[in-house]
Amino acid sequence: MAFLEVENYRKKFGENEVLKGISFSLEKGEVLAIIGSSGGGKTTLLRCLNFLESPDEGTLSVNGETLFDAAEKKQYSDAQIREKRLHFGLVFQQFNLFPQYTVFRNITLAQTLLAKGEIRAKKRAFRAEIRALPATARKARKAEQKQELVQLSGGLKERIEARALQLLERVGLLEKKDSYPYQLSGGQQQRVAIARALALEPDILCFDEPTSALDPELTGEVLKVIKGLKDTESTMIVVTHEMEFAKNVADKVIFISDGVIEEEGEARELFENPQSEKTKAFLRRSLEEDFE
Ligand SMILES: Nc1ncnc2c1ncn2[C@@H]1O[C@H](COP(=O)(O)OP(=O)(O)O)[C@@H](O)[C@H]1O
Ligand SMILES: [Mg+2]
Repeated sequence: MAFLEVENYRKKFGENEVLKGISFSLEKGEVLAIIGSSGGGKTTLLRCLNFLESPDEGTLSVNGETLFDAAEKKQYSDAQIREKRLHFGLVFQQFNLFPQYTVFRNITLAQTLLAKGEIRAKKRAFRAEIRALPATARKARKAEQKQELVQLSGGLKERIEARALQLLERVGLLEKKDSYPYQLSGGQQQRVAIARALALEPDILCFDEPTSALDPELTGEVLKVIKGLKDTESTMIVVTHEMEFAKNVADKVIFISDGVIEEEGEARELFENPQSEKTKAFLRRSLEEDFE
């Protein structure tokens, strides 16, 4: 079984069937590029993988664990969905940083919230433990618990902050840690968004046209960061219009057209030797646009 398995994903909006049975798999550490014309369903597919939309049919598994099975017809609770979503990270076209927070806080925020949840759970467990103790033993144990909580929250904070600094370094923005998003270029904002997505250590990091909102001179720095992640064994799915990037960085490529996988294959093979007429026409058009 592959690390990521998507089986027969289907999604309708009203009468409009946007995904018409999408199946693919990906191994750990592989990079998948998804290409295709606008309106073909690429964003919808990423949103389904990230539990922002619920497919009408299909199954999804990561690392052998079934995360979604439409046949179960289950209504997941918000907490369950949040937990499932943690397997994936998503970097949007429009960065979506929190404008009111510094770069550093943008990166640490989600982890800090998770840590707070962890501490609350620990406190609950501690209270239950105290209730079960004989009255005479409670005071001493409470004092110990207090100490343990201080240690736990200090440890979590330290780990979160150290990781944020490490990620900022990786995307080349350590010196911007106290800046606000409006003080950064689009390329820098997108690099922060990448660090933020990585902070939660997703199994699979997804990008939805990460450079298409950027001026051409800024796309290179973002693509370079994504390319660099490949060396860290990150498993990635990148929806992109950058054909050269897809060809050089991706292991596999999927061409989506009208909600179906029209063609898929090893990256070089698909670009150099496309089989379907639709793929050929699409690649020809992309090439022409590059020269406009
Ligand atoms: N929330 C939504 N409600 C209704 N229609 C949607 C919604 N999201 C996407 N669509 C439709 O789904 C189709 C595919 O869109 P999308 O997944 O954004 O394609 P792509 O990313 O390949 O350009 C489009 O026809 C779009 O209008
Ligand atoms: Mg899209």
